[in-house]
Amino acid sequence: MYQLLKGKKGIITGALDENSIAWKVALKAKEEGAEFVLSNAPVAMRMGKINELAQICETVVIPADATVVENIEDLYKKAQDKMGGKIDFLLHSIGMSPNVRKKKAYNDLNYQWLQQTLDISAISFHKFMQTGEKLDAFNNGASILALSYIAAQRTLPDYGDMADAKAMLESIARSYGYHLGRTKKIRVNTISQSPTPTTAGTGIVGFDLFMKYAENMSPLGNASADECADYILTLFSDLTKKVTMQNLFHDGGFSSVGMTEEMMQALAK
Ligand SMILES: NC(=O)c1ccc[n+]([C@@H]2O[C@H](COP(=O)([O-])OP(=O)(O)OC[C@H]3O[C@@H](n4cnc5c(N)ncnc54)[C@H](O)[C@@H]3O)[C@@H](O)[C@H]2O)c1
Repeated sequence: MYQLLKGKKGIITGALDENSIAWKVALKAKEEGAEFVLSNAPVAMRMGKINELAQICETVVIPADATVVENIEDLYKKAQDKMGGKIDFLLHSIGMSPNVRKKKAYNDLNYQWLQQTLDISAISFHKFMQTGEKLDAFNNGASILALSYIAAQRTLPDYGDMADAKAMLESIARSYGYHLGRTKKIRVNTISQSPTPTTAGTGIVGFDLFMKYAENMSPLGNASADECADYILTLFSDLTKKVTMQNLFHDGGFSSVGMTEEMMQALAK
């Protein structure tokens, strides 16, 4: 390994089980010399395996519901106490839509659930940044990242109100990135990842077909969770200090392709 993150301190949210993108990020960040704490919603402590990951990574889990500002304050305070310093990197790897989970069609949304979708999957990113800024929890030059999906730009069936949440998430990255860039040289970006077989991913109707379609439409093939973690580490490292306010596609080329030979052959069958 390269010790890309040696001396850096971070917070990694959203590791539920070994399929989670955040799980892979934690394992690789450890290999690259980072010190970090893990966080997830209190309910995930019971459902998931995050405590196993904490043992492997020799760290602690600090529960925080990403929609509750007091929980986020507590997370920053405990993380800084545990690591003895401010935060150099933050991964927001959080998403959930009650409408998608309960298979509500986009033209039959439950609006209370829509509020929850936006709060959990997008506004929480703002809450993490605003709370961290108010507590002066970030080091100069820190790197802040959230995970997005191409449904923010293009309509895909059954992604429902998560598409709206991702569009908002990417907008928050730009708006807050401008602000934190000026004040503290902090980078804020989103990574738009290929469909990935995780709990959140497979909760979408027709997910296997999405995966196959994206595979056929990507010259490099779908990007795995492991590959996503590799990319994330470069963005947490000092090698990308001037990358900010971007939505970075990590999708094997999918977002730039109109048609591929593989897809033509599949359709011809
Ligand atoms: N899997 C995919 O196909 C895919 C593609 C592009 C982007 N993403 C995004 O990647 C991110 C990580 O998802 P994943 O695919 O690793 O799935 P995952 O299910 O492993 O992770 C989602 C995490 O969100 C957490 N979460 C939900 N509500 C929360 C709350 N109120 N407070 C704190 N945490 C909460 C869950 O506990 C879980 O750990 C999400 O933003 C997701 O939308 C996923």
